[in-house]
Amino acid sequence: MFSRLPRLAVRGARGFASSSARQTKVAVLGAGGGIGQPLSLLLKMEPLISSLSLYDIRGAPGVGADVSHVDTNSTVKGYPADQLEAALEGVDVVVIPAGVPRKPGMTRDDLFNTNASIVRDLAKATSKVCPDAHLLIISNPVNSTVPIVAATYGAKFNPKRLFGVTTLDVVRSSRFLGEVTGDRPEDIKVTVVGGHSGVTIVPLLSQTEQAKSLQLGGAEWGKLVHRIQFGGDEVVKAKDGAGSATLSMAYAASKFTNSLLRAINGEKGIIVPSFVRSPLFEAEGVDFFSSNVELGPEGVEKIHELGAISPEEQKLLDACIPDLIKNIKKGQEFVASS
Ligand code: NAD
Ligand code: LMR
Repeated sequence: MFSRLPRLAVRGARGFASSSARQTKVAVLGAGGGIGQPLSLLLKMEPLISSLSLYDIRGAPGVGADVSHVDTNSTVKGYPADQLEAALEGVDVVVIPAGVPRKPGMTRDDLFNTNASIVRDLAKATSKVCPDAHLLIISNPVNSTVPIVAATYGAKFNPKRLFGVTTLDVVRSSRFLGEVTGDRPEDIKVTVVGGHSGVTIVPLLSQTEQAKSLQLGGAEWGKLVHRIQFGGDEVVKAKDGAGSATLSMAYAASKFTNSLLRAINGEKGIIVPSFVRSPLFEAEGVDFFSSNVELGPEGVEKIHELGAISPEEQKLLDACIPDLIKNIKKGQEFVASS
């Protein structure tokens, strides 16, 4: 798909020098929202993007006009509610933060009734207009919306190109662990596996150098794991009815998008956690699972095994699997019955 496109001379946001980056068109669906607006701004600052297509059922032309004044090279256009297909023309990467956020007292699964059909309908449009695009799903509940997209694509589903964005769990893990140990969050890398909701979020701290001083299974470790699993609740509570994480999520999504774009442009060795169609726990009935994924020009290049984990982490995993199976099935059954 990319070989027909002209090439640009740019330098990637993380300093990866590329004298021949491809022209890449990225769409944000839900661009007028709490995540969509700052994410659109951050993507406007991404040198690996040549064109940004901003769509929402409310306010996207305004966001598009605003962001288009930023003095970077990419072009930007905002599309109103009735121009979804036009917004998706020629798009290589689609980022989807469309849908309602939580209020205090809600679980992510409580969003299912509203967001499932939003995501399904957007997936119907992408499968028609840009079936080969990489899809980055932010809308909650991610554990269900990713299977919804796959099921909506049916025979057209390409498992290499569908990603549930779980990067915020990784970002939080670095930040929260740094607060405990005093290390710089930028230097800390935590592999977070499973899904993106409560106990399905499993941080493998035993694999992180800076966490070696924590006693696995001890109180401090338990508190940290709980904070990582329920970090979203902290923001929902603090926003007091005005929504959930938007700014840190926009940052996390731009980080993941940058990783994918660098891989598409040929950079090797980019390995990040993401919720993808995965063989790792297939035998136990888990079709989608987040683990370290090596990215390449086609998207998912290799899904890494979990590696050595501690008995305490095995317990977290045992608690994760049944919830994950339920969430995935719920998404698949929704599409089958609709
Ligand atoms: P928001 O309400 O501020 O924005 C959502 C936007 O989606 C709105 O502008 C709305 O008009 C738009 N929208 C609704 N239906 C649409 C449709 N059919 N097509 C296009 N746009 C549509 O919400 P937010 O805070 O930006 O959160 C969006 C979603 O992201 C929520 O489901 C939230 O739970 C989720 N989220 C996920 C993560 C994660 O880690 N994956 C993190 C934070 C939030
Ligand atoms: C998060 O982790 O912050 C998001 O999934 C939003 C939420 O509902 O907590």
